[in-house]
Amino acid sequence: MSTKLLNSNTINIIKSTVPVLAEHGTAITTRFYQMLFENHPELLHIFNHVNQKQGKQQQALASTVYAAAQYIDNLEAILPAVKQIAHKHRSLGIQAEHYPIVGEHLLLAIKEVLGDAATDDIINAWGDAYGVIADVFISVEKEMYHEAASKTGGWDDFREFVISKKEKESDVITSFYLKPKDGGPISAFTPGQYITVKAVIDGETYTHLRQYSLSDQPGQDYYRISVKREDQKGNIPAGIVSNFLHDQVSEGDLLEITAPAGDFVLDSHEDRPIVLISGGVGQTPMISMLKTLAKKQPERQVTYVHAAINSSHHAFNKEIRSVIDSSTNIQYFLAYESPTEDDKQTGIYQKAGYIDLPWLQSILTNNEATFYFCGPVPFMKAIRKALKEWNVADEHIHFEFFGPKGNLDH
Ligand SMILES: Cc1cc2nc3c(=O)[nH]c(=O)nc-3n(C[C@H](O)[C@H](O)[C@H](O)COP(=O)(O)OP(=O)(O)OC[C@H]3O[C@@H](n4cnc5c(N)ncnc54)[C@H](O)[C@@H]3O)c2cc1C
Ligand code: HEM
Repeated sequence: MSTKLLNSNTINIIKSTVPVLAEHGTAITTRFYQMLFENHPELLHIFNHVNQKQGKQQQALASTVYAAAQYIDNLEAILPAVKQIAHKHRSLGIQAEHYPIVGEHLLLAIKEVLGDAATDDIINAWGDAYGVIADVFISVEKEMYHEAASKTGGWDDFREFVISKKEKESDVITSFYLKPKDGGPISAFTPGQYITVKAVIDGETYTHLRQYSLSDQPGQDYYRISVKREDQKGNIPAGIVSNFLHDQVSEGDLLEITAPAGDFVLDSHEDRPIVLISGGVGQTPMISMLKTLAKKQPERQVTYVHAAINSSHHAFNKEIRSVIDSSTNIQYFLAYESPTEDDKQTGIYQKAGYIDLPWLQSILTNNEATFYFCGPVPFMKAIRKALKEWNVADEHIHFEFFGPKGNLDH
């Protein structure tokens, strides 16, 4: 990794001021975003406004800049974390020329929040450090853009796709089949990856970008995404893009998307038993993985555990059953939070209530497996806690957030 060298004085200043900045982290990044969007309203086409309102993105950026600064003289150590963010950045179309804008506003915010404590030496040191960190992101992302564009059927920015089919999967989930408008090939992807949709909505000043995992196996002439409608709940407004897709997008309409991205991916070279665990719409990457496992690794021992509210919310059951029926090594278990009377009659589920460790231990022979999970954050926290209690090593645990990356430990 090539980075500009910082002198030891700069490094000392950075390391000694990280705690000060971290203490004011949220204040600095809140002010940073205010100034950034005042001076560059065009960036509101890229950033997620709802994450901003909920303060989620503020925390993500703040903690990453400080984490990176802690390792300023050994940035190799945070390369895996950089790569994960870079996948998201690449998927959103973030460009090298955006970095100086972010850097300038971050420094302005640091100056403003720290006031007199922000000496010229401190500001200059952080300017240099930001430059070094930004260079790492820019070079990793450059590589990713190149890779996305140079694949057969690949592309590096947004590309127009036609909705070739729209299909209701449950009361709340609808699938969209996407074929390129230009009629060309589409790039292969690894099960677990996602694309970004650009929603251009009548009456909205800005575009809205959202990620959706690819829910079918690779190797088709379409991409499929499956979207849960986020309803209004009391005072909380309905989800912008999911409702747009459900209500306003029809077969034949066009949607712009970026090429598949993400590092929550199935490793088909591994042959350890694999356990896929999903909650609600978190099943989308799992279906892609499950179908690929059935096709490419029919000998591998696979357990798929899915949690849904009940059968009316539960999508893809038929599709999954047909994969499982034609395979000998896949086990399928369902946990329903509130089974309907009908569900109780048919006995479609194996567990009433939430997935917990004793139940997992009763359906899995042992903890010697690779685990993948995805679902709502409280669900992910519970699964991670259960796996840790069962002494599953971190290297065998993989998960995906359907939103900004958070902390599952508290
Ligand atoms: C890698 C990845 C993969 C994903 N894959 C899928 C997938 O396969 N299928 C899928 O359905 N989703 C997926 N998502 C989630 C998806 O990107 C969107 O976040 C989701 O569709 C909601 O977007 P929205 O525009 O409808 O809601 P938004 O408008 O972004 O709102 C998000 C949520 O916040 C609530 N809200 C709105 N305003 C406020 C407020 N002021 N305060 C508090 N709450 C508020 C909304 O009701 C909604 O529930 C994925 C996300 C990621 C990061
Ligand atoms: C060194 C500089 C940067 C750091 C450390 C950084 C860090 C992050 C982190 C941690 C996330 C959350 C990723 C996730 O949860 O998956 C993120 C997302 C994002 N970043 Fe960056 N970023 C940087 C530069 C930029 C730049 C220059 C832009 C463009 C102007 C940008 C735009 C975004 C957007 C749009 C998101 C998606 C989140 C949302 O819309 O809410 N970032 N970044």
